[in-house]
Amino acid sequence: MYYHIDRDHYHDFQTIEVNRLPARSYFIPYPCADQFLAVPRGKERYASPMVKCLNGQWDFKFFPEPSKMPENLDTEVVPFDKIPVPSCIQFQGYDQPFYVNYRYQFPYDPPVIPTTDPVGKVFMWAGADKDSPKPEWRIPENQYNYVCVYRTFFTAEDPEKLYTLSFLGVASCADVYVNGTFAGYTEGSHNMAEFDVTTLVHAGENELLVVVHRWCNGSYLECQDMFRNVGIFRDVLLRVNDPADLWDIEWNTVKNRENNTYSVSGMLSTCGGDGEITLKIQGNGLDREKTLRTENGKAFYSFEDLSVEEWSAESPHLYNFLVESPDSCVVLRVGFKDIQILKNRYLLNGRLIKMHGVNHHDTSPTGGYTMTPEEIEKDVALCKEFNIDTIRTSHYPPDPYLLQLCDEMGIYVVDEADLETHGVWAHRLPPSYNRISSDGRWEAHYMDRARRLYQRDKLHASIMMWSLGNEAGGYRNQDKMYEYLKKVSNIPVHYESAIHSLRKAYDVASEMYPPAERLHETGLGIAKVKELNDRPYFLCEYAHAMGVGPGNIESYWKEIYAFDSNMGGCVWEMVDHAILHEDGSYTYGGDHGEWEHDGNFCVDGLFYPDRKPSTGAYIVKHCYRPLRFTYEGNDTFTVFNTRSFTTAGKYTVRICFSNGEEEERRFDTAPLCKDTFTLPVAEKIRAAGAKGEELFVTFHTEADGTEMAREQISLLEHVMEKEDLPSAEALPEGFGEEAGRIRYTQGDVTLRSSDPYTILYRAATDNDKNLLGINLMKEFYDQNTQVISVNKEKERLVVLGNITCSKKEFRFADIYRMTDRGLLVTSKLHCTRGSGILPRFGKSFYLPESFDQVTYLGRDSESYADMKDQAVIREVSCPVTDMTEPNIKPQESGNRCDCRYAVLSDGTHKVIFEAVDAPFQLSVKPYSDVELLDMKHREDELRTGTFVTIQDFQMGIGTGSCGPGCAPEFTYPVKEDREFSFLIRME
Ligand code: GAL
Repeated sequence: MYYHIDRDHYHDFQTIEVNRLPARSYFIPYPCADQFLAVPRGKERYASPMVKCLNGQWDFKFFPEPSKMPENLDTEVVPFDKIPVPSCIQFQGYDQPFYVNYRYQFPYDPPVIPTTDPVGKVFMWAGADKDSPKPEWRIPENQYNYVCVYRTFFTAEDPEKLYTLSFLGVASCADVYVNGTFAGYTEGSHNMAEFDVTTLVHAGENELLVVVHRWCNGSYLECQDMFRNVGIFRDVLLRVNDPADLWDIEWNTVKNRENNTYSVSGMLSTCGGDGEITLKIQGNGLDREKTLRTENGKAFYSFEDLSVEEWSAESPHLYNFLVESPDSCVVLRVGFKDIQILKNRYLLNGRLIKMHGVNHHDTSPTGGYTMTPEEIEKDVALCKEFNIDTIRTSHYPPDPYLLQLCDEMGIYVVDEADLETHGVWAHRLPPSYNRISSDGRWEAHYMDRARRLYQRDKLHASIMMWSLGNEAGGYRNQDKMYEYLKKVSNIPVHYESAIHSLRKAYDVASEMYPPAERLHETGLGIAKVKELNDRPYFLCEYAHAMGVGPGNIESYWKEIYAFDSNMGGCVWEMVDHAILHEDGSYTYGGDHGEWEHDGNFCVDGLFYPDRKPSTGAYIVKHCYRPLRFTYEGNDTFTVFNTRSFTTAGKYTVRICFSNGEEEERRFDTAPLCKDTFTLPVAEKIRAAGAKGEELFVTFHTEADGTEMAREQISLLEHVMEKEDLPSAEALPEGFGEEAGRIRYTQGDVTLRSSDPYTILYRAATDNDKNLLGINLMKEFYDQNTQVISVNKEKERLVVLGNITCSKKEFRFADIYRMTDRGLLVTSKLHCTRGSGILPRFGKSFYLPESFDQVTYLGRDSESYADMKDQAVIREVSCPVTDMTEPNIKPQESGNRCDCRYAVLSDGTHKVIFEAVDAPFQLSVKPYSDVELLDMKHREDELRTGTFVTIQDFQMGIGTGSCGPGCAPEFTYPVKEDREFSFLIRME
């Protein structure tokens, strides 16, 4: 079949769409309600006789050079390949994945987009202008605005019906053709696009052709921090309707706050025909019904005085709203909610809520933007499991299924428009976020994205705020979007990037990555920008979860709980973006020949790409816990219920003491309130003390048998003291030193020092490097140790030396003596030059690989000074290879705080380290810290031995990769002298 292929829509700035149907709600009609209700959740889209899902293997032709695409395309002769729909072409062997954060992939000249010529020079770095004296350029080879041609067939049984094509996501744009005729054009990748193809469809087999360009004018509005993928990446549906079937449905609820009832109303529109429509609202004891007739395809409905159970994330009460036309029924799962902003307080159903959130991208390591329903279900289930109650759909409307799940399972949603122009800032001087957003020529493009966001998603109970997009500055065009949303919806509007413009904020104030002190200011109403004080304050992004971390997120929650105006916020971000390969390896930016890229900045999730939780997920789970406990002394504890609607009685609390005693309690603390209670611990503390034992109490908060939190409070700590260790006569045989570094042999086992023996740095975590490229650890990497003297006496060995780094110098003293319990090592450190902070102070040892088991008493999982409360102190046994974390880009990991002892074993022998005077921090790695410095991917983590570092300290982690670095209280000034001791024993 011949097709005359359009060559202009994608680069014609005036053309946002051609023949696209007006935006409307996403729903799946069924012939009758029973049929709908019999379909399992998540399968609705695929099981309706009124909707054909066109997913599957489609024919595909990739034209890497757009000029080679024939203007008149004969599908009979095109040598098509096959491609699955939905998918991103980069995952199917075409093009390569391409990761950039905020830069455009094409020359910045809005609204001009490359056409058939090579892309040419791409300006590459922020801060320099095209015309500045020293521009930096990258010249991509063979880069074009390529074209993809997709073809499939579908059968139409009854050409009397109405046929509508629904594309749920296509990047970047699509020209759609049916049976040789142009049907329409759309852009706006993550928005639903629909075309009426009734007149083009005939009985029997029909040919559908879709032409997708890599970039269109709309790509200027899609400069989000993610792999820049291309393709028909979400489901394609063919809807088959009768004229009287429902086309659009509204659901606008209003609460009568006098008597706590709701009214609901809205317009119903059909596919053009008229008929009778029966409406039923059913559920939670409510059963209301109404019949009306449409006129000219429309009918307005309303129900008054409904006594309902309101929807919240804590109690996601939904109702079935049945909308029955003569031949079809739409069953919507709807909710009733009442949002009010009273001055600077955001209230849901009359109560303050705190949003315990994450940012969620639709991202899959095997599909890119394409997520299977199971993957979407998994993400929502993980949120529930990890106490996350809010998702910001960064930075575009998600697959509608995600919203359906959020309604059902109880997740608040900040639903964001597909709009980011971050690159405007990087490609012109002076830097400004506002270039495109203040340019009125783009208004229609902005409005299109606002309209389609609202219209598609307006039925969802879970939506708490509309978001005008991300990092696009402002504010002329955003003002228009705002006006529109205010006209059609009573849900508040959020938009962080307004802060970079004179507008500053819309209904709520919002920022990303401020220091926690800002929340103190907004709480007190003293922030410099007045808009941050006079309305609710939200953190649309905070706690950058790149690599190890995030550290110190509790500092934010202290302020969020302390002030009514602080609404909470969303950690950046839920899941690492990376690409999984057949051999099990993952790649990130720069691994695919990208001519510009932002490395592993996309690997910044709480969960690994396969959704295994990283420590970050446990940190968040702990921080977002429903009940918080504190010990006030004198057998008195407080419990704080952090929920807004649920009384603490929902949770069973198992209270477990380290002495084995256990009891169960329930508290009836009201939402967002505190209570005190007594636990007779004084007696237990005394008893433990008498036995020289420690005492911890752990509160396990359980909901319906599932543990939602565990929180440990230490009641009595005790570590062996140097004074209690009588000296034995002489240093043991087998103990010696070589150039000031120890070697200790007993029987077949030798414990050696590793290099560097005294280690002052760690292989930088992502959070040790900031956005300006400064690596806090770097100056220590060249640490150089010189031994000044070795003084060996019969019962003592003393080694003195210097450690020099580029900007600092230290004097150290290592003292060894034998005691009843083993070899006592004391190490002292004194700074003789330089200032600032010291990242780490520890002694590193090497054991052969056969020492592959470790047992220790300390924090039971990865922990650092500012992120340790998610881990509890207990004895743990595990393989050495479990003592580091599988970061997609290897870096320091796996530290354990507050350790009392550690035993390394090869099954026969044991090497034991015991804390003296204070617990130590333990690092056990299957490779050395020096080897770690050069590792880029998981495959580089080859085992070279067992490396044990006993540490006085390691500084905290912070979130410096994008946000505040490690807080001073978790750092160690070089000027403070350090001394620590531990025992070594071999059995
Ligand atoms: C923000 C942005 C996100 C992401 C994050 C850093 O500025 O909104 O999309 O880039 O920083 O990972």
